[in-house]
Amino acid sequence: MPQSISTVSELRRVLAALKPGRIGLVPTMGALHAGHVSLVTEARKHADHVVVSIFVNPTQFAPHEDFDAYPRTLEDDLVKLGSNADIVFAPSAREMYPPGYASGLESDFRPHFFAGVATVVTKLLIAAMPDIAVFGEKDYQQLLVVQQLARDLALPTRILGAPTLREADGLAMSSRNAYLSPEERQIAGRLNIILKDASAQAAQGDLRAAEARAIEALWTAGFSHVDYVAIRDAETLEHITGLERPARILAAVKIGTTRLIDNMAI
Ligand code: PAJ
Repeated sequence: MPQSISTVSELRRVLAALKPGRIGLVPTMGALHAGHVSLVTEARKHADHVVVSIFVNPTQFAPHEDFDAYPRTLEDDLVKLGSNADIVFAPSAREMYPPGYASGLESDFRPHFFAGVATVVTKLLIAAMPDIAVFGEKDYQQLLVVQQLARDLALPTRILGAPTLREADGLAMSSRNAYLSPEERQIAGRLNIILKDASAQAAQGDLRAAEARAIEALWTAGFSHVDYVAIRDAETLEHITGLERPARILAAVKIGTTRLIDNMAI
């Protein structure tokens, strides 16, 4: 089982003693599944010591979202990691956001999310100063935001992306899949299939038609809301009209109150 650490100062002390070994960091919010473990395996390939952070970050949840309900399973997570990780860094909210921390908790929606992610990932990167950190392509926009912030702040950490692990029917593994009823779980499996069809259609040229067909198919499949289906430039996420450069299809949908995302290269 990994060594469990809950303060930044202890983390720094323990990691300093491991230098000059290479440090790898895998940030998570816990409730670990095989997708998370695959990132740890990836980190191992590039680092001598692997740290997994487990922190349900309050600043990336909007007030109406599932912060309180989000699963917290630290004991199981430690067992699941076994000898794959060397250190688990599981700070309290007070450790990460001490009294007086300047946090705006206004009721914004997604901008809020990425500001919260950027803040906590920056804090984690500065706390661990890893040589590499691994993020899942599952959260593709998050991966790009983290790569951008590492560039902007000239952090000495290489940010690596790792492929999405899926269930047998294609549904991307997610801690939030646990919220789905059996009927909802059936519908959820359609998301990946519909995106695959849309990528195939996009490759024939008409990107807007491919998006529109996918949105239609998602409603028909029984999703209760389609936030977006968008085919964008894979590096900048800018609007595109053709496939001259690498492109990505990204989608967010809801089933009941559960929000699911998925994406893939075209
Ligand atoms: P969390 O949702 O716990 O995800 C932690 C990491 O696991 C992220 O990099 C995510 O992209 C990756 N991941 C999730 N599902 C995956 C799957 N099916 N296959 C491969 N990788 C997968 O993302 C967060 O936490 C937070 O926003 C965080 C970065 C920790 C900041 O709080």
